Amino acid sequence: MKKIMIINGPNLNALGTRETNIYGRDTLDDIIEFTKKSTESLGADITAYQTNHEGEIVDLLYRALDEGFDGIVLNAAAYSHYSIAIRDAIASVKLPCVEVHLSNIHAREEFRHKSVISSVCVGMICGFGKLVYPLGVRVLCEM
Ligand code: DQA
Repeated sequence: MKKIMIINGPNLNALGTRETNIYGRDTLDDIIEFTKKSTESLGADITAYQTNHEGEIVDLLYRALDEGFDGIVLNAAAYSHYSIAIRDAIASVKLPCVEVHLSNIHAREEFRHKSVISSVCVGMICGFGKLVYPLGVRVLCEM
């Protein structure tokens, strides 16, 4: 059984009410529940966190390593676009990390087109709404 950590970054606590035209009406709890249900047959052991703080994402990445997780699904939200600290932590822990975004970051503002973490992730899934989470888990389970 693969042990998978899902990490959600800033403002994702507000899903359900935040810019619903872009992110939809599901809360983060709804999305995590949906992810666990729709990946049941893969037998993954999923633990999910959300934090609004950059350093806490760094700490969680090291915790994933220390606690024997097999991989990470990471929606670093706005930090994806500029956090070298998170990028360096992903490179340091060396666990497979799938970058996810609910929205299609390439179809939005120019500043969202670049992700500084993509190059150290095994891949990136974006634009499919809540489906990006189970898709990320699936990738990690099949690696
Ligand atoms: C996001 C996209 C980011 O650009 C944005 O800052 C977010 C959410 C997404 O899931 O679509 O907060 O990561």
